[in-house]
Amino acid sequence: MAEESQKWVLLVTAQTPTNIAVIKYWGKRDENLILPINDSISVTLDPEHLCTTTTVAVSPCFDQDRMWLNGKEMSLSGGRYQNCLREIRSRASDVEDEKKGIKITKKDWEKLHVHIASFNNFPTAAGLASSAAGFACLVFSLAKLMNVKEDQGKLSAIARQGSGSACRSLYGGFVKWIMGKDENGSDSIAVQLADEKHWDDLVIVIAVVSSRQKETSSTSGMRESVETSMLIQHRAKEVVPKRIIQMEEAIKNRDFPSFAGLSCADSNQFHAVCLDTCPPIFYMNDTSHRIISYVEKWNHSEGTPQVAYTFDAGPNAVLIARNRKVAAQLLQRLLFFFPPHSDTDLKSYVLGDKSILQDVGVQDIKDVEALPPPPEMKDKIPAQKYKGDVSYFICTKPGRGPVLLSDESKALLNPETGLPK
Ligand code: DP6
Repeated sequence: MAEESQKWVLLVTAQTPTNIAVIKYWGKRDENLILPINDSISVTLDPEHLCTTTTVAVSPCFDQDRMWLNGKEMSLSGGRYQNCLREIRSRASDVEDEKKGIKITKKDWEKLHVHIASFNNFPTAAGLASSAAGFACLVFSLAKLMNVKEDQGKLSAIARQGSGSACRSLYGGFVKWIMGKDENGSDSIAVQLADEKHWDDLVIVIAVVSSRQKETSSTSGMRESVETSMLIQHRAKEVVPKRIIQMEEAIKNRDFPSFAGLSCADSNQFHAVCLDTCPPIFYMNDTSHRIISYVEKWNHSEGTPQVAYTFDAGPNAVLIARNRKVAAQLLQRLLFFFPPHSDTDLKSYVLGDKSILQDVGVQDIKDVEALPPPPEMKDKIPAQKYKGDVSYFICTKPGRGPVLLSDESKALLNPETGLPK
């Protein structure tokens, strides 16, 4: 590090997507290294609608590692952050920025401190797997800053040590997390099954369900399941291995009926394991159950699945429609059953790709109130509505993996001071 340029700040900004598992990860065999008891498969969600942006900076002026999440400083002392930082630092290489006159050697990285600022483009508290995008982005951006030469698979094994599901956010499209066998976790990595263009008909509608209850975190929930559930062993050993093979086949062949059947069955079994846990864990609520019933009824009336549902460790429904036409019919049904409060602006009730509202044929609340009941409900007239039970919807699609943002104006840290902008 040249003495005369001690004031420099070097930064890197990246954007990383979140993901939704269609074959769930639930249960660890190693709590510290975060090694799972079964493989899992996920769909990466379009970062335009759901992503984390992270800027990492290094400067000889920094006297400690610091991090800000959505503008608020938070502690980096937790074991998971420390594990990720240590693993990335130990793989750092020489970095040279001729324009700025910066030269950092491999050895320098041991003493240099970093600043990290992260921002989610969706509400962190909404229970939308923010830790997956967050840790994936932290590892990806630090690896770029420190010129880590490992491939994406090795980086996924580092992100995994931040949060298991984060390893799947290092790729776009359809991703498998291979559980691995090694005790040190080196073969517990994510691989891409197909990129997002492989199956670009799919449209994803997320119903963010209003909930008053404080949920059990995934981390403690799965620990309790491993300790007390008998079903979880059967699931991990007998059920998931077969489903993984079938799901890979369904994705390869763009076979929607198989994809939907497997996704729904796996979500339901994961929640059955939660019920089989002592004390039982309830992640879904009445609204979640209602959404399942409507989708099942509709799929049944069509004779073949139109929509798949899956629920993580919370009440939000992630609904995957086979194409855009079906997605518009789905949103029409969802708006019929779960209209917003009358004073809500429809534009703040349907987020993400709002252009779907045109396909649904609604422009404002009056149009929503005039929606007819879905034909498959004709035996239940008048169908009951549940105003306010959904906070909002997000319309999105499968998306790409992490990218670097070279435009410095997108950085979350000031390039002069290395502090949040
Ligand atoms: C239900 O990855 O949040 O979303 O590894 O303890 O951080 P930790 O757990 P986390 O668990 C995710 C569980 C899930 C299913 C899934 O994403 O596969």
